[in-house]
Amino acid sequence: MLLYDFDGREEEVDMVFYGGAVTWKSIRTLRSMAGGLICYATGKEEAEALGIPFQVDLLRSNNELAKLVKRPKYQDEPAFSVWVNHVETKTGISDEDRAITIRKLHEIIKDILKGKQARDIFYNEFYSPGHVPILISRGIGARRGHTELSITLVEQLGLERSVVFAEMLDEKTSLKKDDAMKIARSNGFIFLEGKEILKGVLA
Ligand code: 5RP
Ligand code: CA
Ligand code: ZN
Repeated sequence: MLLYDFDGREEEVDMVFYGGAVTWKSIRTLRSMAGGLICYATGKEEAEALGIPFQVDLLRSNNELAKLVKRPKYQDEPAFSVWVNHVETKTGISDEDRAITIRKLHEIIKDILKGKQARDIFYNEFYSPGHVPILISRGIGARRGHTELSITLVEQLGLERSVVFAEMLDEKTSLKKDDAMKIARSNGFIFLEGKEILKGVLA
């Protein structure tokens, strides 16, 4: 699925996969067809259950590093938390390795939902820094990034809050919305905009 955020925000299109369906081929597709940073996103509740903070809050806890915390041009606080690899990966970066890390993160999210003690498994089985950034949704009422939009979408579909995405890039710049729409049409991908997801939330 291809997801455009909003005019006046990033104005970028991310390629999005449900976390439970990710294989090494999905990572290859994200790398070769999208080309941006491959991120894993989950919900605030799940992040709280695991005890993982926003990266900006970690930086703010150090007087000097806090000076690095600034807002991007579109003003949203970043969604980034920690970057991880699963212990079963080799270097963490190959398509196979990133798919392992993401599959294992998805299992952790499912365990949290089942009320299982996922926190210990998370700290035993993952290490940081790794090659998969975890992003945390603040909820669509608080922020309207690709993170919140894609997490809202899986919630509406009755799926776990577990998605993977990467920005679609062109030569030199991010891919324009119209070009992404053409790619969606020729490949049979669903194309959605933030305003359509908001309509569903407000309906
Ligand atoms: C990570 C990003 C992307 O923009 C991604 O879409 C998530 O961020 P946001 O929720 O701010 O849109 O910066 O590469
Ligand atoms: Ca961004
Ligand atoms: Zn984005």
